[in-house]
Amino acid sequence: MTEGQRATEKAAGRVASVMQESRVFPPPAEFSSRARIGSLEDYRRVYDEAARDPESFWHVRAQTLPWMKPYATVLDWQSPTAKWFVDGQTNASAACLDAHIAAGRGDKTAIVWIGEPTGERRTLTYRELLAEVCRCAAGLQKLGIKPGDVVSIYMPMTPELVIAMLACARIGAVHSVIFGGFSSEAIADRNEDAKAVAVITADGGWRRGTTLALKKNVDEALKKSPTVKHVVVLKRTGQPVDMVPGRDVWWHDLVAGMPADTPPVAMDSEAPLFILYTSGSTGKPKGIKHTTAGYLVWAKTTAEWVFDLRDDDLFWCTADCGWITGHSYVTYGPLAAGASVLIYEGAPNAPHEGRFWEIIEQEKPTIFYTAPTAIRSFMKWGMQHIEGRDLSSLRLLGTVGEGINPEAWMWFHEVIGGTRCPIVDTWWQTETGGIMMSPLPGCTPTKPGSCTLPLPGVCPEIVDAAGDPVDQGEGGWLVITKPWPGMLRGIWGDEERFRETYWSRVPGKYLAGDNARQDADGYYWIMGRIDDVLNVAGHRLSTIEIESALVSHPLVAEAAAVGRPHDVKGEAVAVFVTLKGGEPDDLAALKDTLRRHVRQQIGALAAPDDIHFSAMLPKTRSGKIMRRLLRDIAAGKETVGDTTTLEDYTVLAKLPGNDE
Ligand code: WT7
Repeated sequence: MTEGQRATEKAAGRVASVMQESRVFPPPAEFSSRARIGSLEDYRRVYDEAARDPESFWHVRAQTLPWMKPYATVLDWQSPTAKWFVDGQTNASAACLDAHIAAGRGDKTAIVWIGEPTGERRTLTYRELLAEVCRCAAGLQKLGIKPGDVVSIYMPMTPELVIAMLACARIGAVHSVIFGGFSSEAIADRNEDAKAVAVITADGGWRRGTTLALKKNVDEALKKSPTVKHVVVLKRTGQPVDMVPGRDVWWHDLVAGMPADTPPVAMDSEAPLFILYTSGSTGKPKGIKHTTAGYLVWAKTTAEWVFDLRDDDLFWCTADCGWITGHSYVTYGPLAAGASVLIYEGAPNAPHEGRFWEIIEQEKPTIFYTAPTAIRSFMKWGMQHIEGRDLSSLRLLGTVGEGINPEAWMWFHEVIGGTRCPIVDTWWQTETGGIMMSPLPGCTPTKPGSCTLPLPGVCPEIVDAAGDPVDQGEGGWLVITKPWPGMLRGIWGDEERFRETYWSRVPGKYLAGDNARQDADGYYWIMGRIDDVLNVAGHRLSTIEIESALVSHPLVAEAAAVGRPHDVKGEAVAVFVTLKGGEPDDLAALKDTLRRHVRQQIGALAAPDDIHFSAMLPKTRSGKIMRRLLRDIAAGKETVGDTTTLEDYTVLAKLPGNDE
């Protein structure tokens, strides 16, 4: 490589940071005094311990799993293949259920479930949950499902969704949860890729006052899924469905008369626990593979650290089990930790836009973990839905899924947290299995918009495209340099893509695909996806910084920044903006105001060239803005590529400049 080539390579990873955020919020003394990790010294001690001798560190934590056969070796690392707790055997459902009952905690509430239709509520103790899981597990075994078989789960957010996951885990089947909002196309693709032998679904599911035809979508998908031999159907909405004799069976018929003590099957530590499909930037979805013991240790330990779980907590993570957040922080993490979990089935605006606050007032959760996109909706819907609601049960707030704009952070802190609750901004990915960087609420001073510091056992680095560390303050590629127990073990059926995507651009290190920078305190700031970076006149700008500047304007609810080709500058900044109220009469004046606002907040370089107003932004079902589509629109191209994960297809047609 010539010096010139090398310089280009190095520049390729680097991103300029223009964001200034100087507010710091120390943890409340009262919180710290009761916390599991109550001071930065404690955090550093644990972090150093994990860094010095990771194997002993994780060996100690793994002792809390119920081992059916002890492991011989803690870690076998042959990059990029990690094996944790080698040759041991355990069972994920036993760790989440039987272990607590054995410890005399069978009568503790495991799940409080609230249906979308007002008035529907169910609770299950750990003992009751175990019984349901055992019945379902026995039913699946009766259908002939064996360890290693893949079972797709396409269900509404009911207790039975969690029961189905744990029942698969109990018999050693690999679950592949498909979010209930996905189309029949998406189900068919995932069934085919995973060679699923069965699908567990429901007649329908509630969403925003109407019902989704889940079974009908499955029927459609199964025309293209020759490997699927069985369909189990939960009766949820009561809507009419076609049952195919010999293939389809009602859930209630399957579990009737089944034993409530089905034994857990001993599974190898590295036996796959689940596959979860996530969309790549291009091409077909990737089936991210997680295995049993390492994933469980990671989900449980991180849940305890980050959410500071205590015996009397009621933990509300608003994610659907169709996402990794619902796997790790509705199901496996909190249940392995023996916590009580609140689950709400439906939309935050059904039947009214104050539904979440009504639920908090009634059920009194102590921890509330949600997504920035949801927080921006709450802000847009207005204070009238929140005023007068008693939110005083809350002691801790959390966010996940994308960077949180400082404006939204401050609102969450003041309006929902009443300024007394720490906020944990948790950075992680489907691939990482659990939280990687986050404040620990009892010890880490927080800064709005920063996920702060790595958890013990996590070794991040920020590098340029040549793999060299960037200077402090400079943006670059975020990599993880050491294996951790919760890391993905591959892409289902595609070893080559696994190596190529995560391990090749910076050899030997895990490439997260995000840009990040570290400030003078060592805090990490995620700057957006590598592929989303804008390059304006040779300066690489991060999407989140421009978007945060726009969202800090009082009229702006949401914003997305993308680059579009520009003759002179290489790329021009195009932004799509959703306003809080209706559109004002003088749009040109507002555009001017917003340009000036961005210029003043972060500098002339980032001032948008094009401003499009849009009633909605295209998002994935998990709430991430699909900048890839916006880039096409901004460039005046037809939108191409995979849109199967788009939340609302009609959004595309409604976007300015897209007349398809
Ligand atoms: C990507 C992973 C993590 C579970 C839900 C999403 C973005 C996630 C943050 C955060 C900034 C974040 C990243 C990451 N992201 N959390 N706290 N701050 N960005 O899982 O669908 O696999 O997405 O979401 O870009 O790589 P996922």
